[in-house]
Amino acid sequence: MVRDEHKTARQNEELWDSRAETYDTRFRFTRRTQRRLVSLLSLGDNPRLLDLACGTGWGLLYAADRTNGQGEFYGVDNSSKMIEQAQAKFQSYNNLHFYKSRVEELPFDDDFFDVVMSSNAFHHFSNPEKALREANRVLKPKGKLYILDMTANNAVMRLANRLIHKIEPAHVKWYSTREFQALFERAGLCYITSERIFPTIEVHMAERSNSQSRDEILSRPL
Ligand SMILES: C[S@@+](CC[C@H](N)C(=O)[O-])C[C@H]1O[C@@H](n2cnc3c(N)ncnc32)[C@H](O)[C@@H]1O
Repeated sequence: MVRDEHKTARQNEELWDSRAETYDTRFRFTRRTQRRLVSLLSLGDNPRLLDLACGTGWGLLYAADRTNGQGEFYGVDNSSKMIEQAQAKFQSYNNLHFYKSRVEELPFDDDFFDVVMSSNAFHHFSNPEKALREANRVLKPKGKLYILDMTANNAVMRLANRLIHKIEPAHVKWYSTREFQALFERAGLCYITSERIFPTIEVHMAERSNSQSRDEILSRPL
């Protein structure tokens, strides 16, 4: 089936706008996964970090906690209501920045971030390859990417992938580890490894490719 990228993006925007107010109480488990993700990050001194599809913003707070507040932490999300929740909650932190944006068109310069991460959201991205190319573009040389999501490596998850659309049309796909590897490589990222943090939930890690191959890959049509 060929997906309409913009229709999926609109469905996601409506869905997450409608869930924004109650997200923190209804989806508490995601905070546990975000803490685990942040514990795996390789954060130097004063990192500049981006959280793709940051939701209500907790991932940025956990990352800033790990560096004792040193660094600049940016989150983007396509739901303006999720962004409003994050901005209201963390308004007293002047190094946490939230923007409404699709991950497929990031409002940042090339070579800007040391670390890009994302949690519990990749299966909603309407154009995952474009999102990964954007992550590659905004990462500095040797910058690291970490994607945490449910990973469809078994028959149950593959079946769930087929049925989930009936209850959640904004869901695109849960990917297997092999599919993550292929997507990362097509976007010009060097896949490093994955780590299982809960049953079926994995963190996939990659590094920005070298400048020459990156420019060549980013200039290819999608
Ligand atoms: C399950 S929530 C996860 C939020 C947060 N990362 C967490 O772990 O709690 C999924 C988020 O993905 C966002 N999202 C979905 N597709 C997106 C896209 N193409 N660009 C930006 N955000 C997107 C939704 O608005 C929603 O806030």
